[in-house]
Amino acid sequence: MGSKKLTMESTLGEVYDTPIGHDVLKKVLLQLGAEDILITNPLVSKIPVSMIGKLTGHSMGQGFYETLINLCNSEKKAYKDTKHYYTPKWWKEAVFYQIYPRTFCDSNGDGVGDIQGIIKRLDYLKNLGVDALWLSPIYDSPNDDNGYDIRDYRKIMTEFGTMEDFEELLDKVHEKGMRLIMDLVVNHTSDEHEWFKDAISDKGSKYRDYYFIKENSDKAPNNWKSFFSGPAWGQYGEDELWALHLFSKKQVDLNWENAGLRRDIEDMIRFWLKKGVDGFRMDVINYISKGSLKDGDETIGKMFGFTGIEHYLYGPHLHEYLHELHEEAFAPFDAFSVGETPGVGMEMAKLLTGESREEIDMIFSFDHLETPGHERFDDYKYDLNYYRNYITDWMENYGNDCWMSLFYDNHDNPRMLSKVESDPRKQQAAARLLAVMQFTLRGTPFIFQGDEMGLKNYEFTSIEEITDVESKNKYAELCGSGMSEEKAFKTILSGTREHARVMIPWEDSAVSPHDPHRKVAMTQKADLDLTEVYKKLIALRKRYNALCYGEFKVLNKRRDRFTYERYDKNEKFVIDCNLSGTATRGAFDGSGFKLVYGPLYGRVEDEVLLPYEVRIWKK
Ligand code: NOJ
Repeated sequence: MGSKKLTMESTLGEVYDTPIGHDVLKKVLLQLGAEDILITNPLVSKIPVSMIGKLTGHSMGQGFYETLINLCNSEKKAYKDTKHYYTPKWWKEAVFYQIYPRTFCDSNGDGVGDIQGIIKRLDYLKNLGVDALWLSPIYDSPNDDNGYDIRDYRKIMTEFGTMEDFEELLDKVHEKGMRLIMDLVVNHTSDEHEWFKDAISDKGSKYRDYYFIKENSDKAPNNWKSFFSGPAWGQYGEDELWALHLFSKKQVDLNWENAGLRRDIEDMIRFWLKKGVDGFRMDVINYISKGSLKDGDETIGKMFGFTGIEHYLYGPHLHEYLHELHEEAFAPFDAFSVGETPGVGMEMAKLLTGESREEIDMIFSFDHLETPGHERFDDYKYDLNYYRNYITDWMENYGNDCWMSLFYDNHDNPRMLSKVESDPRKQQAAARLLAVMQFTLRGTPFIFQGDEMGLKNYEFTSIEEITDVESKNKYAELCGSGMSEEKAFKTILSGTREHARVMIPWEDSAVSPHDPHRKVAMTQKADLDLTEVYKKLIALRKRYNALCYGEFKVLNKRRDRFTYERYDKNEKFVIDCNLSGTATRGAFDGSGFKLVYGPLYGRVEDEVLLPYEVRIWKK
């Protein structure tokens, strides 16, 4: 990959050769539902950028290409992999479990999960084989976005308990030999945070520059759109000043250009690390550096759904700020970091997580959550052949300096199981297949609460049952644009995050009359057999080094098949998967191998793999 400055006369191939060009063009292809070959094809790759608009009937608009070229020029060199082995780290070997505290376990029957509830389930988690917990935010918050709108970074949310409860939890987690990471939400605070209140009411406040606050005028300072519908600017305080909020109106963006803010954030991180917390999951961390507040390109806005995104998806000081955080806060405590980085593809990910960069340890990439041409609010069946191609690409090309996270679910998405298979008779097998891939591919598995119980999407029957700010705003926006209420509700049902935020149906816990989702506990029962499968797979992964650090090689990539090897100098495994809901011939012939994870229904000697069947063979 070259370091020449790109211009409109550069070829598409040259653009694709830069880290940002590579990731952005891949994203565009994903959006269009097209394959990489469209760009890597030698004929297409020689076309100058200036010609594309003409050839495609200007569908992208000139601004799109100029913005792309500028972005590419900001980061011309790809990350160079320097190693032939993986540096061993606890977080590469660990199995993480994400807890959404609000709906994990309610210990006092008030309808809201709490810290004592988590403590109550620690033995269960330990037994499952979990090594580390990630807690979604438990800080003081008015809960416009369930804790992702923080009012006080150093206080525990009253509904969840007290600081003593938290310290008890941390001690007990450590006593059991597990670790705990917290959520770090520092792209924005609540508009009820003291900094913002001071900033908005006092012109001379030192906190005014902690946010993007602009004097009153009739018009918002730019055309950026919020991720939660509508404009990304709101008016606040008596003077009706404008402030930027990429998420809800009550989540105001912090201005990382301000060094004082950065020092305060570092200080806050150290506050938790001194208590013994083992690291952080960093909320939308790639958005923290806002390049300029210029208008966003309308075509890019249409394509990605959010006008303005090119100014902060990968802002000009992102690497500098992350390195600074690493040096000042994380490194002295040897703390772990995993960044939530929406829109970041593999080449940008390398620049964020490459060992020698000293920025963050891992990222969550999201490009596998929807198949090409689809977005979260579409109702469609997920084709696992896409996941196979996606993950193979990362396994083969992410490099030894980088390490990936493996997950299907989190609190921001509907359940993957429901997307993959809607037939209840086949879901059990599909859930097992997903688990096998998660624990036998290279990377750190993150289980989302309830995955191990086979939880599926919940059958909400009315919009009143949906509490999430993103879904509520989107519903209002859809209805406002002329869509019928029925259709708007159907759309929300396909993509709402609420599916992942329903109470966990613990066998032994009474259903609280206060729980808005109490019906869930009655309608969805945990699949305890699946939980046993999780235990077995986690134990297997921990027992054999090859399943963690070992090499990866694909043996069979026929449609609907995914057969791969994981091996090191001591062991070899073959994982033979049927990715589809129909039986397929040509199962891996395990002569000379031993079956360590067997068919759910069929017989080992069968050459037919039943729907979603998986076999793990060991040499
Ligand atoms: C990503 C979080 O995961 C999501 O739940 C939240 O709404 C946004 N960031 C804003 O904090």
